[in-house]
Amino acid sequence: MSERSGTTADDAFGSRQPTSHERQSGLPWDASYHDGPAPWDIGRPQPAVVRLASEGGFSGTVLDAGCGTGENALHLASLGLSVLGVDVAETALAIAREKSKARGIEVEFATADAFHLPDLQRMFETVLDCGLFHTFDSDEKMQYVTSLASVTKRDGTLYVLCFSDEGPDTGPHPVSKEELKAVFDADNGWNVVAIEPDRLQTRYHDEGAPAWRANLKRI
Ligand SMILES: C[S@@+](CC[C@H](N)C(=O)[O-])C[C@H]1O[C@@H](n2cnc3c(N)ncnc32)[C@H](O)[C@@H]1O
Repeated sequence: MSERSGTTADDAFGSRQPTSHERQSGLPWDASYHDGPAPWDIGRPQPAVVRLASEGGFSGTVLDAGCGTGENALHLASLGLSVLGVDVAETALAIAREKSKARGIEVEFATADAFHLPDLQRMFETVLDCGLFHTFDSDEKMQYVTSLASVTKRDGTLYVLCFSDEGPDTGPHPVSKEELKAVFDADNGWNVVAIEPDRLQTRYHDEGAPAWRANLKRI
């Protein structure tokens, strides 16, 4: 079991325990949003999300887990979907709410820890993870997958867009296809529908970084 213990800067994490990423960097996620756009914050929805949506991949109420400054959630809401975006970074959520207001697109943005999604007391037909899953260590991934299963309706869909280990020029925390298959298995409540190569755009990859686009079905 990984030790998700507190640090000397516990106040920066509120009542939650820092994630492995935060312990490694020594900074809360919120700090990523303090000095201009974060490397992943490209100021527009990820092309993979736009494509999935244009193919009718999203339906019902949608959860965007780790929504950041909300570009994906805002895009989905602009198509008429009911979307809740959650994140632990208050600064990102404040930016997302400002965009929502400025663009006149209604999206609900809320502070929530992805490890405790049942606290939302809501269920979703479609869930999006764009760039969150790959930030977790292996114990956290197991905990997160269980949390996701608890808020995804039976037959609902989860999309995970994460950096892949099939380079060149891989992004940080690359994930293998085998790891995705192992974590999203029937014992954890998931069927793998497809895991396809895709790209995740960042501010420092000209053509985007190699990614997996995993389509998981809740069983
Ligand atoms: C790499 S960013 C991706 C943000 C957004 N999905 C995007 O595509 O721009 C990962 C996001 O997950 C959030 N995050 C990290 N750990 C979290 C947790 N335990 N619960 C909820 N959000 C978390 C971070 O604050 C950050 O906004």
